[in-house]
Amino acid sequence: CFSPALIHLHDINDKIVVVVDIFRATSTMITALSNGVSSITPVADLETCRSMKAEGYLIAGERNGQPADGFLLGNSPLTYLDNAFAGQKIAMTTTNGTLAIEKSKSGAREILIGAFINLSATAQYLKTQNADILIHCAGWKGKFNLEDSLYAGALVSALAEDFSIACDGAIAMKSLYETNESDLQGFLSQASHAKRLQNHNIEADIDFCLQLDQYMIIGKLKGQELVAQPIK
Ligand code: MLT
Repeated sequence: CFSPALIHLHDINDKIVVVVDIFRATSTMITALSNGVSSITPVADLETCRSMKAEGYLIAGERNGQPADGFLLGNSPLTYLDNAFAGQKIAMTTTNGTLAIEKSKSGAREILIGAFINLSATAQYLKTQNADILIHCAGWKGKFNLEDSLYAGALVSALAEDFSIACDGAIAMKSLYETNESDLQGFLSQASHAKRLQNHNIEADIDFCLQLDQYMIIGKLKGQELVAQPIK
């Protein structure tokens, strides 16, 4: 598991990269794909995302935890519940998550989208793959954050019997997750982005993003689009 500051392009080569941004980009992506959205195109910048509206995409944009100027959809997973946008193609840009996906494209064998809400589905899929895995934590503006690294610990813990751990960060986060897994909400209430979101009165998103295994799909990048792949 690496914070963005530690990602080096050679680390990615021919690995399966699991990109994670718990609060809230990858949690939102998995929720949307599990609720019938046909695809999500992650976009690094606001202007490109805005221009995709004219191509028939529903556009979703967030900066610093708030909907970006001119965007109807921000980045709350709750927006997509009850198949609210089923059948739609979405173009999405967020502060950190979509950038982390962009950075992971060069050399990855596959890019998956990781979240607590589909943790077991992602672990189950990875156990069937004969590949090295790199967990790319989006972090916050290039810095380490607690929730993404705790997810990395959770995934490492779920894979520990099937994979060898080649990174001290992964060992540390596995231990941190196993110590706090019984009270993720309590432990992560101290996370800096949780506090940022609390200041915007979006606690409901935080609780939702920390619910384990709501969905049994994986999110996989196919070309430029994220699509759902059900896991039996
Ligand atoms: C991010 O990209 O860091 C998050 O999506 C920010 C957010 O939605 O609060």
